[in-house]
Amino acid sequence: MRQFAQEQGRRPSITLPRRAMPAYKAATLQKGLPMSFPHRHLLGIEPLSPPDITAILDRADFYADLNRQADKHNDVLAGMTQINMFFENSTRTQASFEIAGKRLGADVMNMAMQASSIKKGETLIDTALTLNAMHPDLLVVRHPQSGAVDLLAQKVNCAVLNAGDGRHEHPTQALLDALTIRRAKGRLHRLSIAICGDIAHSRVARSNIMLLGKMENRIRLIGPPTLMPSQIGEFGVEVFDDMAEGLKDVDVVMMLRLQKERMDGGFIPSEREYYHRYGLDAEKLAHAKPDAIVMHPGPMNRGVEIDGTLADDINRSVIQDQVEMGVAVRMAAMDLLAQNIRNARAA
Ligand code: NCD
Repeated sequence: MRQFAQEQGRRPSITLPRRAMPAYKAATLQKGLPMSFPHRHLLGIEPLSPPDITAILDRADFYADLNRQADKHNDVLAGMTQINMFFENSTRTQASFEIAGKRLGADVMNMAMQASSIKKGETLIDTALTLNAMHPDLLVVRHPQSGAVDLLAQKVNCAVLNAGDGRHEHPTQALLDALTIRRAKGRLHRLSIAICGDIAHSRVARSNIMLLGKMENRIRLIGPPTLMPSQIGEFGVEVFDDMAEGLKDVDVVMMLRLQKERMDGGFIPSEREYYHRYGLDAEKLAHAKPDAIVMHPGPMNRGVEIDGTLADDINRSVIQDQVEMGVAVRMAAMDLLAQNIRNARAA
């Protein structure tokens, strides 16, 4: 990371050297390995234990290194078929899952959902059963309805990865955020992390609150009361509606997009007013620790939730690192699930 930071012209002080990584590649290929990831699917952060999260992140570190080599191939998914079904628009998540599968040697198919029979009235479950009959090994699904991916997972006999369902969960986003934080800060515990903006409509916020909470960090949510979930007290977080107060001495500032497609009323007075109160700029960031990092899952609305210059400031923003870690985390998750598939077949 330090070397990467230097290559990118970033001040290396915010990117600490990370732990030496074990050689997973050989271990992954070994048959009869004890199951290090006891889950059939990756549907959310909720069912994962801290060791499950660490297992994915450790393996993702290995893939992050592999992805910086000229030869990025590994064959842990050779012979397997991966189908990506995105019922909602996506740029980085879909591209990232596709690249991840291809680098691991899977046959990857992207379903063109606009042209699929769903448009002719076929239900999600019928489509899933049709695809299931073609014997895929991994199904990657994004859907606008919360719970749709869990339902689908009950109907098929392959591993299902949730690429975002409604406002419910987006597990690989939280995992890639965690990996980015761990590599930048040198640890993933006892950090003070602010998640800011449209918390109520954000699956990214929900998955991150769970993951960062399980890893024993202090979480602060900052945003207007209209964009806070109603039962926020149950999350074990501190809530602020003032950026200066909420950002005080935090290590990490995670900004969120205003999810207008999930809003059915006037949640904010105007984008201008919202930016004035909650948009992250250098002045507001000055309340955080001097080495605090700035994150955003993308897509960004520059000048609405974040100042464009700050988003591009390689001394503070790790937004491009998040994209890079996204491929590594998805490779790691699919590798672990595939290992379980192989073990189950061998049994
Ligand atoms: C997020 C999503 O789709 O939930 N984006 C992403 O996966 N990179 C966040 C968002 O859309 O704002």
